[in-house]
Amino acid sequence: MQLPEYPDMDALAAMEARLKSYPPLVFAGEARALKEDLAAVAAGNGFLLQGGDCAEAFAEHHPDAIRDFFRVLLQMSVVLTFAAASPIIKVGRIAGQFAKPRSSGMETRDGVSLPSYRGDIVNDIEFTEAARIPDPQRMEMAFRQSAATLNLLRAFAQGGFANLDNAHRWMLGFVEDSPQGHRYRHLADRISETLAFMRACGIHPSTTPQLQTTDLYTSHEALLLGYEEAFTRMDSLTDEYYCTSGHMVWIGDRTRQPDHAHVEYARGIRNPIGLKCGPSLTPDGLIELLDILDPNNEPGRMTLICRFGADKILDHLPALVRAVEREGRKVVWSCDPMHGNTVSVSGYKTRPFDRILKEVQSFFAVHRAEGTHAGGIHIEMTGKNVTECTGGARPVTADNLADRYDTQCDPRLNAEQSIELAFLIAENLQAEKRDRATRVAA
Ligand code: PEP
Ligand code: CO
Repeated sequence: MQLPEYPDMDALAAMEARLKSYPPLVFAGEARALKEDLAAVAAGNGFLLQGGDCAEAFAEHHPDAIRDFFRVLLQMSVVLTFAAASPIIKVGRIAGQFAKPRSSGMETRDGVSLPSYRGDIVNDIEFTEAARIPDPQRMEMAFRQSAATLNLLRAFAQGGFANLDNAHRWMLGFVEDSPQGHRYRHLADRISETLAFMRACGIHPSTTPQLQTTDLYTSHEALLLGYEEAFTRMDSLTDEYYCTSGHMVWIGDRTRQPDHAHVEYARGIRNPIGLKCGPSLTPDGLIELLDILDPNNEPGRMTLICRFGADKILDHLPALVRAVEREGRKVVWSCDPMHGNTVSVSGYKTRPFDRILKEVQSFFAVHRAEGTHAGGIHIEMTGKNVTECTGGARPVTADNLADRYDTQCDPRLNAEQSIELAFLIAENLQAEKRDRATRVAA
C-alpha cells in the first residue's frame, strides 16, 4: 500500500542502484545503542521524546530551522529529565522524514484531479500535473539533505551547543516570556536550585563531559521501500541487516497489514521499530504484529506509538495494554497525540492544543490505572513560531491560522506550544513517580 507509481521504471531502478552504492547515514552500532536505551524505557526507566516535522521539505532546508528544532527539543528534555528523574531518549523525526502516506491516491481541486502529494522524496507539492509525477531523482535529493541535516545535528549534539547550562538558560527564557509562565515557575525554580547544588558540588559542564554533549537519534516512517532497501546494509560486526537511513524507523497506521510489504521489510532489519497503533488495531491484531516483528520479545525492539484521538483513546488503549501485559511482551508505550486529533477550521487542517493535551493526559491515566509505564511522546513540532495548531498559552486562534501556516503536510506544535506540553507532561511524570513510590512502600 501507499507506494507511488513511477512512470519510468528504468530511471527508478538506476536511481536505486546508485543509492545502494552511497555511504550509510547511520551506523548499526548506533541503532543498537538506541535499542538499549529503549530497553531501559520498556523496563520503566526513562522516557522517549520523539518529535519533528510531519514532513521535511526541500524548500525549508535551513540551518536555523535545524538549530531551533534542536533547541526546543533540549528545552523540553531538561524539564522532562528533572520530572522523570531518569534519562530522556531524544529521537528526531528528522534527517529522513520525507515520505507521506495519503488517505486518497488522488487530490481534487475545483474539479481537477491529480495524483496526491506524497512527500518531497516522491513528488512536488505544487498542484500541477508535471509537479505531481513521481520522480526518482528526488530520492537522491532527500538523501543529500538528510546527510547535511544529520551532520549539523551531530555537530550540535557533540560540539557544545547541547551543553546543559545552555538548555537550562533557554528553558528559563521560555518561562520568562510565556503568558502562563507562573504555572511553570515552581518546577523551573526547582531545576535551577538542583543545578546550583550540583555546581556547588563541582558538577557542571566544564568538569563533567556528560553535561557538555547529548545523544540525538534520527527516525522516520519507513514508507518508501525502494529507498529503504537501498540503505539496508549488512552490519560487518554482527552480519545482521540494519536500515541505515535512520536509527529508528516506524510503520504507519495505514501500512501495518501483517501480510503486506512494510511489515515484511521491518521484520528483516534489526533497528528499533515503531508501530503506529490507531483505532482500527485490535488486541489480537497487535499481538499478531508483535509475533511477526519481534518474535524474540527483545526489549527496545518495539515502540507502540498510540494515536487514537482524545475522544477514542479510553475506548482502545486499555485493551491493548492488557493484551500486551497478558502476553508478557516488553514494549515501549508512546503517545502520539497529533494524528487522531486533526480537524478542519476555516479551510485549514489544524489540531486544538486542548485535545492534544487531553489525549496525553488520558494516556498517562490509562497507564497509571494498569500499572504500566507511560514511556514516551511522539509529536509533530517545529522550533519556529508557526500558527498551525490552535490554542496554547499564547493562544493561536482560528483567525491566526493563516499568519504562519508553513507546514507541507500536518499542523505542528510551535516552539512555545511544545515546551508548554513538556511542562504538562512533567506534571504527569511526577504523579507516576509518586504512585510508584506508594506502591513500593505498600
Ligand atoms: C505520521 O506520523 O506522520 C503519520 C502519517 O502517522 P499515522 O501513520 O499514525 O497516521
Ligand atoms: Co503527520
